[in-house]
Amino acid sequence: MSEKLWGGRFSEKTDKLVEKINASIHVDKRLYSKDIKGSIAHVKMLAHESIITEDEAATIVKGLLKVHAQIENGEIEYSDELEDIHMHVEDALGKITGEVAKKLHTARSRNDQIALDVRMYLKDEINNIIDLIIGLQKTIAQKAHDNIDVVMPGYTHLQRAQPLLFSHHLMAYYEMLKRDKQRFEDCFKRTDVMPLGAAALAGTTYSVNREFVKELLDFSRISENSIDAVSDRDFVVEFISSASIAMLHLSRFSEELILWSSSEFGFITISDAFTTGSSIMPQKKNPDVAELVRGKTGRVVGNLMAIITLLKSLPLAYNKDMQEDKEPLFDTVDTLKICLDVYSRMIPNIKINKEKMLESCSKGFMNATDLADYLTVKGVPFRESHSLSGKLVVYALENKKELQDLSLKEFKKFSYLIEDDLFEYLTIESMIKRRKSYGGTCYDNVKNAITNAFDELK
Ligand code: ARG
Repeated sequence: MSEKLWGGRFSEKTDKLVEKINASIHVDKRLYSKDIKGSIAHVKMLAHESIITEDEAATIVKGLLKVHAQIENGEIEYSDELEDIHMHVEDALGKITGEVAKKLHTARSRNDQIALDVRMYLKDEINNIIDLIIGLQKTIAQKAHDNIDVVMPGYTHLQRAQPLLFSHHLMAYYEMLKRDKQRFEDCFKRTDVMPLGAAALAGTTYSVNREFVKELLDFSRISENSIDAVSDRDFVVEFISSASIAMLHLSRFSEELILWSSSEFGFITISDAFTTGSSIMPQKKNPDVAELVRGKTGRVVGNLMAIITLLKSLPLAYNKDMQEDKEPLFDTVDTLKICLDVYSRMIPNIKINKEKMLESCSKGFMNATDLADYLTVKGVPFRESHSLSGKLVVYALENKKELQDLSLKEFKKFSYLIEDDLFEYLTIESMIKRRKSYGGTCYDNVKNAITNAFDELK
């Protein structure tokens, strides 16, 4: 057995089960390229500050690049004995360069090293996620653009409320994604802090040059307090929290797509490529993608609970509990990425059943508010017109009609102010046209929102 890198003060062998519970390599192996990149910057700094020689640094850097290639080619075998990615890299380096590899860890601890690796990893992934969000926003804006004048019933309490442009409804998701993007951009700022040099917790006795490492690794700032540098996982919490909110948005969207694609609604048809069949019921075409995204939201929210609970009450500074941060983090990254990606592909493959949506708009008294507005325009105080309109709804219900189907004579029984122009007032088109308050559903507003979206996404 190779002696442990920390084996100096140990005389007994580690219990096998301890090795198993202690090992994180099966999870943190995905950090190998960041770990190696961070080590190369560290070694260059050590040479720059004459803590090791330039020759030693050159040998180590060459060796580290070789380790990188070995990992990429699957030539390194991972084992629990070597715990984590840091030890595997160092061990592999030792096999290539011999003695000099032992200098790599000068002025460094795995505590600041892992903080560095995770921050480097997450910076890249936040950028990938922002790109995926932009991609989805583009898809949504395009779908809205292509269906700009499709009308649909708008709902509150899942009861028909007022007619909307379908494009306006879609653009609501555009806004949610815009906030998601902003949250990730903000989270990036606090992830973009270079912790190396904190060492175990107190800083280091070597004359390290932290600015030099920061520049090499393209960070914006260095951490201010060594204890905080190795203890801080706020950026992980923030990231998973932002991801949870993004997933909440996708799950609300999913729920709507699932409802809309049911025969009860029939508003949309999701293409075959994004649905699946049933093994027993031949007629079935299930909206699995939307259901899975809705379901996976639970995982991400679970990850948020896991990281918050993990950190709660942890004393400063590093505690091994923190090794458990990576599974929820990686799972969140993977889950959010696939969900954003699959949505970007599915949306263009959704057929909008324009007639069905229109037909649904003509039932359910969605023009009752407009009837009240009509009376208000004619001078009736709104509360009174609201009540009159309510009475007309009851009358229409009793007579199994919609408001627009009543005759002028019938209307007149309720208010002498009602004239022939009411019928035009109550059409879907004019109801939508009149909602021109800023941010409302009228055609011009939505058209502008889509134009602005395309500008923003350029
Ligand atoms: N594998 C550890 C982690 O992921 C690295 C830091 C370990 N530090 C230590 N002193 N054992 O958190």
